[in-house]
Amino acid sequence: MKIVVIHGPNLNMLGIREQNIYGPMKLEEINAQMKAVAEQNKLDIEFFQSNLEGEIVDKIQECLGDADGIIINPAAYSHTSIAIRDAIAAVQIPTIEVHVSNIYRREEFRHKSVTAPVCNGQISGFGPFGYHLAMIGMLQIFNEIQALKEQQKQAQQN
Ligand code: DQA
Repeated sequence: MKIVVIHGPNLNMLGIREQNIYGPMKLEEINAQMKAVAEQNKLDIEFFQSNLEGEIVDKIQECLGDADGIIINPAAYSHTSIAIRDAIAAVQIPTIEVHVSNIYRREEFRHKSVTAPVCNGQISGFGPFGYHLAMIGMLQIFNEIQALKEQQKQAQQN
């Protein structure tokens, strides 16, 4: 099983940008922690960061036939990008949205995510630990899919 992690605009600046909001942890450190969890659970994992909307759309499309799950922080595009929302809806791959900060207790323009409704779930406000929670959430989704497949197989045999 493979997870693709997609980081949107300005997340390459984690550890530098607005530390009072996002904390001191760098993106490389977050990725390293996720990689360790993936290895412990025998999962493949790939990381991608872009500041460009179209590149994020391309990456989501490339997940088709390649990834079993997507963990995405679309960053500012969460609030604006119908293109990223449509790409997530198009590929029909289990997807979890992560926000480092709690977008619901910040400026009003951050309260609405246009991408979250096409995701399985959203994690917001736990700092970088949110990515770890997303890994656990994705493992649960994989287990449920596996259990459903086994049930269907058994039903066919009976
Ligand atoms: C963010 C929240 C967004 O509103 C913001 O534009 C970001 C980061 C977060 O992880 O908290 O760039 O997605």
